[in-house]
Amino acid sequence: MKIRKAVIPAAGLGTRVLPASKAMPKEMLPIVDKPAIQYIVEEAVASGIEDILIITSRGKTTVEDHFDRNPELEEKLLSSGRQAVYEQMVNISSLANIEYIRQKQAKGLGHAVYCAKTFVGDEPFAVLYGDDVIIGETPACRELCEAYEQFGLGIAGIKKVPLELIGKYCSLKVQELSSHLFRVFDMVEKPRPEQVFSPYAILGRCVLPPKIFSILEETSPGAGGEIQLTDAMRSLAAEETMIGVEYSGTRYDMGNKLGILQAIVEVGLQHPEVGEPFREYLKGVAQSL
Ligand code: UTP
Repeated sequence: MKIRKAVIPAAGLGTRVLPASKAMPKEMLPIVDKPAIQYIVEEAVASGIEDILIITSRGKTTVEDHFDRNPELEEKLLSSGRQAVYEQMVNISSLANIEYIRQKQAKGLGHAVYCAKTFVGDEPFAVLYGDDVIIGETPACRELCEAYEQFGLGIAGIKKVPLELIGKYCSLKVQELSSHLFRVFDMVEKPRPEQVFSPYAILGRCVLPPKIFSILEETSPGAGGEIQLTDAMRSLAAEETMIGVEYSGTRYDMGNKLGILQAIVEVGLQHPEVGEPFREYLKGVAQSL
């Protein structure tokens, strides 16, 4: 079955990037000249997604403004002959059919996804975490959607993380099926050292069947007192297993300070307009390190 719908949870408090995220959503933090969430919407669209639901919350209206038209700005750009930028601005608002819903309290990622129940209905859907930007030749979301079409099971986008850091993520019990494809039997969110299954963690993307909503209804608060999507996926994996796809792109965590810096440097170096001067600048900086 083709995946047509995607959910982007962007309602978290972003406490790890304060004060930047105090009045501005971390999902709107720019990587050179585009907010993080635009990269994510573009990835979904490039993966064949038609309808997107962004889960927002108090103080996140700039996300909606960003994907809306801005007639005053457009007129100004046109009258000053800046046609290319004008078209870029108009295109942002026609990328996809985007809807919004507010999560009234930040009760966790699982709770945020549950807010999408009515939007999703009775079909499988993709989840793209609003602070995880993935850059690569093939859109990560498309790699996961293709795996769903092949297996008809819940799909987790996974990567290996250094074992000393796995306690900050979730750890998966996996069996390798072929290069980049794994069967997932079990998982644990924020594992203590004795709970670690493997260095593989779910990072930023998944494709889920609609039965996840009835599982979420039964899921009690877990790590950090939040309703964890991982706990619901754990029940799903126990019921029918899931598939792990080690996606090919590079993931940047816009929810932590080092991740933001890495994204800006690496994307900046590839940028068609400022990439070359930025490379020269960085070479100079590197010499003095
Ligand atoms: P995170 O756990 O990274 O977000 O969730 P957070 O809670 O904002 O982070 P910190 O720990 O306080 O810094 C991953 C994604 O899920 C969304 C976030 O906005 C982020 O894009 N999220 C998280 C929600 O939509 N609602 C929540 O209740 C929690």
